[in-house]
Amino acid sequence: MCSIIGCIANSDVSETLVKGLKRMEYRGYDSVGIATSLDSKILLKKEVGRVNVVNSNLKLDTMPGHVGIGHTRWATHGQVNKINAHPHLCSDNSIAVVHNGIIENYWELRKDLEKEGIVFKSETDTEVIPNLLGSFFKQTGNIKEMLMKTVTKLKGQYSFIALLKDGSLIAARFHEPLIMGLGNKGYFVSSDVLGFIEKTDYVIYLENEQFVIIDGKGYKIYNFDGGLARYKINKISKQSNDVNKNGYEHFTRKEIFEQPSTILDTVNNSNNDWETFAEIMQNSPNVYITGSGTSYNIALVAKYLFPMYTTISPESIMSSEMNYSKDRLRKNSLLITISQSGESADVLEAVSIAKEKGLNVISIVNSLASSLERESDASLGLYCGTEIGVAATKSFTSQLSVFYKIIELISKQHIKFDFKTVSKLISEILDNEPTIMNIAKEIKNASDIYILGRGIHYPIAKEGALKIKELSYIHAEGFATGELKHGPLALMDKSSYVIAINPEDNTYQDNLSNIQEVKARGAKIIGLSNKHHDLYDHWIKIPHLEPSILYPLIEIIPFQLLAYHTSLEIGADPDYPRNLAKCVTVK
Ligand code: BG6
Repeated sequence: MCSIIGCIANSDVSETLVKGLKRMEYRGYDSVGIATSLDSKILLKKEVGRVNVVNSNLKLDTMPGHVGIGHTRWATHGQVNKINAHPHLCSDNSIAVVHNGIIENYWELRKDLEKEGIVFKSETDTEVIPNLLGSFFKQTGNIKEMLMKTVTKLKGQYSFIALLKDGSLIAARFHEPLIMGLGNKGYFVSSDVLGFIEKTDYVIYLENEQFVIIDGKGYKIYNFDGGLARYKINKISKQSNDVNKNGYEHFTRKEIFEQPSTILDTVNNSNNDWETFAEIMQNSPNVYITGSGTSYNIALVAKYLFPMYTTISPESIMSSEMNYSKDRLRKNSLLITISQSGESADVLEAVSIAKEKGLNVISIVNSLASSLERESDASLGLYCGTEIGVAATKSFTSQLSVFYKIIELISKQHIKFDFKTVSKLISEILDNEPTIMNIAKEIKNASDIYILGRGIHYPIAKEGALKIKELSYIHAEGFATGELKHGPLALMDKSSYVIAINPEDNTYQDNLSNIQEVKARGAKIIGLSNKHHDLYDHWIKIPHLEPSILYPLIEIIPFQLLAYHTSLEIGADPDYPRNLAKCVTVK
């Protein structure tokens, strides 16, 4: 998944493009490129690497031209190299294109265009777009017709922005997010409001199968069939789109340390219609919960949580597996979708499958006005602020706290969870950071780390392992402790590190017996518990918490810190881990 941006103004735009790409870099950081138009010629610079580095080498932000486009890449087709970096030009250099998504039929289109004598330079799927546009412009001489003919040819999921040498911009959306910004000194189009957030807070969310033509005279939005499109101008809040590090070295550490307050921001925000959400859940014959990555681990916790306090027994289904699980979906049931970004392609596909099967869809999302929020029947916002760090941290504890809050509303046991105490205990764990930094120093060279948890702690073992994989590139795996002796115990030897999630609750004693078995195979034990035990080679102390059902909200924090510090120990960038992106808008 990439970030794309376009801008047309009455002054040079390259600096605005570079700043926009910098804010959207979490969407992809393999390469950067910009193209501007000046005196009916297209200027283009691109290179492999991060925005700041490439900009300081190539001086992207000094390129002249009052109209331009930009891109940061998360490679899907073709290696990470300069030729495959965007923008891509058509064969006569009159059109430049930046693209987010996948053109599934690019190979056939490429073969057809090669028959017309067009020579391709890159391995990308994207390069067919400027060449199709170029070929149709030769035929029609008309920008609108050129675009309509092009989108009828493209298959897949995409949004792209094209810069024409005459200085006009065109952009099209087919499933991938695309947002226009209306400034008083210029127009913007981008995959994310962060692209132009400092320039305007008036935006138009392009709907699916729409395109826009922007030139010096203004803009027109059309449907793919050529008809004028209906659209709404929205005012967005800059505050909820704040992307400052506030003195922290990394967004990831900032977002980890925000959690004592973000959890309270989530459960105390009055914008959410909690009652309706709870009612819809209560009145649904079957409840399915879906998500990807960290958001899916929330679905796993909910599976343990709801039956304890309510008559609801949700089923968790990974979004990327929904296509092969649709026979499990019962009509008139409810699908709850969880997504920080609201743009993960797998989650959006799960929504369309559920709707086809006649289910209601409600969502828990952080990015308001995202595609998921707009396609859901109802939704709850996290209000935990923008999350930039690619590994989800504060969104996880906020997503979790949403379900605890909903249980308060649904359960007949009239329970009240003390979120203030949870917030205070998270601060206590954050104060214990030096202990975790020392453990990071020791495990940084480990080849395998196993995380154990029973009951509601098992999904946290999964999430802990995911954090360590995402940020420290060490193979880590979360197990239900009891499953160990049925196979994974074979993996254990003197080189293994085992982190046992073992607070004093109904899982404590059973866990200790299994920890004994692991210790007997020579593995190093890191005990994560409110109580010390001699079996532990290292003890990560977490405070005692009642009711123990709340432990998932605090016991994930040490894993976030451990992953962050191990990432630093191996010299990686915790905010932009290799091969990943903040949300993946391709399947
Ligand atoms: C991945 C992110 O791309 O997508 C993960 O790196 C995230 O951190 C996952 O958990 C799902 O994203 P979302 O936005 O749908 O919750």
